[in-house]
Amino acid sequence: MADEIRILVIDDDDSGREALTLLLQSVGYTVLSAANGKDALDIIAREHFQIIVSDLFLPDSSGFDILQSVRKVSSSTEIIVVTGHASAQTAVKAMKEGAFDYITKPIDFDELKIVVAKALEKQQLLSENVYLRKQLQGRFEFSNIIGSSPAMQLVFERMRRIVKTDSTILITGESGTGKELVARALHYNSNRKDRPFIAVNCGAIPEALLESELFGHVKGAFTGAISDKPGKFEAANHGTIFLDEIGTMPLHLQTKLLRVLQEHEVERVGSNKPVKLHVRVVSATNIDLELKVKQGEFREDLFYRLNVIPLHLPPLRERKLDIMPLVGYFLAKYCQLMSRPLMTVSKQVLEIMEQYAWPGNVRELENLIERMVALSDGTVITYEDVPAGIVGGKRGRAGFSLDLTEDGVDLAAILSEIERNLIIQALKLSGGIRAKASALLGINRTTMVEKIKRLKIEI
Ligand SMILES: Nc1ncnc2c1ncn2[C@@H]1O[C@H](COP(=O)(O)OP(=O)(O)OP(=O)(O)O)[C@@H](O)[C@H]1O
Ligand SMILES: [Mg+2]
Repeated sequence: MADEIRILVIDDDDSGREALTLLLQSVGYTVLSAANGKDALDIIAREHFQIIVSDLFLPDSSGFDILQSVRKVSSSTEIIVVTGHASAQTAVKAMKEGAFDYITKPIDFDELKIVVAKALEKQQLLSENVYLRKQLQGRFEFSNIIGSSPAMQLVFERMRRIVKTDSTILITGESGTGKELVARALHYNSNRKDRPFIAVNCGAIPEALLESELFGHVKGAFTGAISDKPGKFEAANHGTIFLDEIGTMPLHLQTKLLRVLQEHEVERVGSNKPVKLHVRVVSATNIDLELKVKQGEFREDLFYRLNVIPLHLPPLRERKLDIMPLVGYFLAKYCQLMSRPLMTVSKQVLEIMEQYAWPGNVRELENLIERMVALSDGTVITYEDVPAGIVGGKRGRAGFSLDLTEDGVDLAAILSEIERNLIIQALKLSGGIRAKASALLGINRTTMVEKIKRLKIEI
């Protein structure tokens, strides 16, 4: 029985012991008994009891010895001591030493039943507390971010170190690797968690509006500014501002942002009244900011100010160990959302997923699982359910054919030409982001960089 409650009765008086045993059994508890201290200690060492009901005076030891021994083996066992009339003082001493309660002889059975029920209730509460604490700790452990790979363990380790600080953080990583998820987790586990978390997607706001979005404006500052409006920085005061796609910020705004970060104050557009800021700044980018600095498109001083603590999220293809747990996590999520029984994927499907390069990273994986859960019948997702683009063999091919004639060919030169051609296309398709380009080609980034050098491809 899962909820079996076990009680040990210790009493040297045979009839008293038997009566207690029968009474407690009649209430539904499992009861063992011992007639002396030695037997009792033997049983306690071997078995677990929620409750021990013990006479305080035993022929070979005292109830106090039992108390102490039980405390050593189990912190959750509650002890109820039974004492003679005259020994109220000893009973009080037993309570001080950690007994849950005492009852006096002759035993009132109704009283005993109530005391036992109370002891059990206390245990229940304690275990719920332990459960709640564990849950809270779970949240602190960023439990909604899945990652068992060594690479993600390093990310968690760094997050734990910085979560209670105010340091400025720059999160880098390809699209869909979880940058925003991490930024939120950092905020909601920080001392600022009860203050606002304000996310600004610098890439999605038209350039003309970005300045007033970030810093606010006063009435009449420009056409259309019909009233005073605080910016996102003010809204995030005492909390966290998340500057997403920071790499897209135009140069003139970079200068203003740098000033705000240096002076810890902001002026609304059209005003010269500074507002003091206590904001933690977390920014994110999926482009190579250092490269942008070299190309003169991103201010170097701003880069250093944002990049106080770098946090890099590796692409999914470089942490294949995370694929299986992520698949399980998203299956559970979408089956629950769509009120379906829990689904699994076949071994073959998992292998396909582990082979695939995931250019869209975790977001792509999540979308795929959502789609497969919605479209598949039954409880196992099989090969047939996987879209063609994901299945290795059916991965898009760049169609070409060559006809060999008697003249022969220079195979090495042809292969190099094909490589060169595809690499150039991949770089174009991915806007020059090498990690994306290499994912399109199904090779890793360093291999591609080597090929670029070897083939003298100009970018
Ligand atoms: N390790 C992870 N565990 C669970 N879910 C994840 C994980 N990483 C990402 N996700 C989920 O994947 C989706 C994409 O994550 P997120 O939006 O944080 O990516 P991003 O790096 O900000 O992408 P982009 O650069 O395109 O904005 C979200 O739904 C997020 O919850
Ligand atoms: Mg994002």
